[in-house]
Amino acid sequence: MPGSGHPLYLFLCVWSAVALGVSAEEHCPARQHEDQSYVAAVYEHHSILSPDPLALVSRTQALEVMNRNLDVYEEQVMLAAQQAAQIIVFPEDGIHGFNFTRTSIYPFLDFMPDPQLVQWSPCLEPHRFNDTEVLQRLSCMAIKGDMFLVANLGTKQPCHSSDPGCPSDGRYQFNTNVVFSSNGSLVARYRKHNLYFEAAFDSPAQADHTVFDTPFAGRFGIFTCFDILFLEPAVRLLVQDAAVRHVVYPTAWMNQLPLLAAIQIQSAFAVAFGINLLAANIHHPTLGMTGSGIHTPLKSFWHHDTEGSHGRLLVAPIARNPPGLPGIKNDPGEGDPAHRKFLKVLAGGPPCDQAVREDSCDPSWQAKAPLVFHAEMMYDNFTLVPVWGMEGSVQVCAGSLCCYLRYQRPTLTQELYALGVFEGLHTVHGTYYLQVCALVKCGGLGFDSCGQEVTEAEGLFEFYLWGNFSSSYIFPLFLTSGMTLERPDQLGWEEEHYFLRKKSLTSGLVTAALYGRLYERD
Ligand SMILES: *[C@@H]1O[C@H](CO)[C@@H](O)[C@H](O)[C@H]1NC(C)=O
Ligand SMILES: *[C@@H]1O[C@H](CO)[C@@H](O)[C@H](O)[C@H]1NC(C)=O
Ligand SMILES: *[C@@H]1O[C@H](CO)[C@@H](O)[C@H](O)[C@H]1NC(C)=O
Ligand SMILES: *[C@@H]1O[C@H](CO)[C@@H](O)[C@H](O)[C@H]1NC(C)=O
Ligand SMILES: *[C@@H]1O[C@H](CO)[C@@H](O)[C@H](O)[C@H]1NC(C)=O
Repeated sequence: MPGSGHPLYLFLCVWSAVALGVSAEEHCPARQHEDQSYVAAVYEHHSILSPDPLALVSRTQALEVMNRNLDVYEEQVMLAAQQAAQIIVFPEDGIHGFNFTRTSIYPFLDFMPDPQLVQWSPCLEPHRFNDTEVLQRLSCMAIKGDMFLVANLGTKQPCHSSDPGCPSDGRYQFNTNVVFSSNGSLVARYRKHNLYFEAAFDSPAQADHTVFDTPFAGRFGIFTCFDILFLEPAVRLLVQDAAVRHVVYPTAWMNQLPLLAAIQIQSAFAVAFGINLLAANIHHPTLGMTGSGIHTPLKSFWHHDTEGSHGRLLVAPIARNPPGLPGIKNDPGEGDPAHRKFLKVLAGGPPCDQAVREDSCDPSWQAKAPLVFHAEMMYDNFTLVPVWGMEGSVQVCAGSLCCYLRYQRPTLTQELYALGVFEGLHTVHGTYYLQVCALVKCGGLGFDSCGQEVTEAEGLFEFYLWGNFSSSYIFPLFLTSGMTLERPDQLGWEEEHYFLRKKSLTSGLVTAALYGRLYERD
């Protein structure tokens, strides 16, 4: 971070004040800024791929391909350094590529010792271990840029037949993230636990719970791509160690709308855990891979581009101690009629035809007979009801989960929206148990189009969305028109229900969903 005399200082400081939603006057005086924020960078990389990932190549040929990617990394480190970045994150598969077999990836693998057992700066001691060319370059870049550096590479670790888990070829092959400190020393490694159909790699027998400490922002956690959907290690790491307020997250994520676009799950994770998530995706739009961001609980700086074939560096100052979104407990909304009404509904105000006193019921609940239908959303059979008219209240249930929506709209648009519920085991492209309440814009005007991929929308809503989840891990997925992100105004538990409230949207709503995970039923 530049000192207050540095020309970048005021610019970065005002920028971070906006990001944090605080006044620049209060935020920026003298050294205060240096104490409260740090500068993070992520790079979405268009990786140069091996022409044929199935072919067997020599180590020299493998290094040729990887060095071309590392040349780009080095440029980006220097650009980030000019913007005073203190940490940079590069994506999963960015150096070696993907679609390898176990055999064909072998020449691309570096040997890596366990940084907990070995103190090592690959740049300063290049000859200490063989087959560490990639680690050496990364370590030198960290020194050159004077910043922490996080990157993903393939690693190999010889094993003996006495180890029951040892593969028959006598080695483990891991999809590995490495962290270098600004002096080039290897401070952490994380081996991906939840592999996503990656035949080339092994999953470690025990999940790594990897953290590292930095002088500028305290403790970071680290995991990779698909890991974000599972208890181990991602959620357990955050639940067990409250000192982790930042996560670095290399990913190679294929966007899947309407619920799991890359930037959507990234920002939802930052909001759900009240942490900063530094997420770097690779950039291969033809494979649906794009979407990176520096996500704080209150705001995201993101990049999502399906057109170009270039990388993108994001640099932003963010809080050392990220503040969370207001929940109901610290903002009871006293005197806010909409919120009082919401609380009354939660408390179980009866339908009007059964109510003793008019003011204790809500006429809109029973006004329209619910028109329930089924449609497939991301391979799951959702139960839905249409969301029609300028205002209303709808509910829909499946399994043990009931989802509710109260909404008002300033204008009607020529679009169909629906409220959907799903509870069950998702089994396509991974197996995981879900509880989901989702307000989505449908692909067209037919019910069967609800759940289709859309990115543009005009519908503005003011709404409460809630459900009686049995999961305690609920990710608020929020996506607006043109792949933009907004934050809920309020989020939290109230009377056994988890709710999300949004008063005004600045662009049309694509998805507002509460995406609950029941890890114990996977
Ligand atoms: C990698 O494999 C996927 C799925 O098999 C395929 O769709 C894709 O085209 C492949 N990509 C490259 C770069 O070979
Ligand atoms: C590296 O490889 C060379 C050639 O195979 C070998 O002679 C040397 O002992 C190895 N060095 C280490 C540190 O393993
Ligand atoms: C390099 O940085 C690491 C982590 O910040 C620290 O533990 C180590 O002592 C440093 N090494 C040297 C030689 O300064
Ligand atoms: C979805 O679930 C409903 C209710 O269980 C069932 O009637 C319908 O056939 C299912 N649809 C599909 C495509 O499986
Ligand atoms: C959610 O509410 C519905 C309807 O009141 C009820 O049948 C269901 O058991 C509730 N689920 C849980 C987990 O409490």
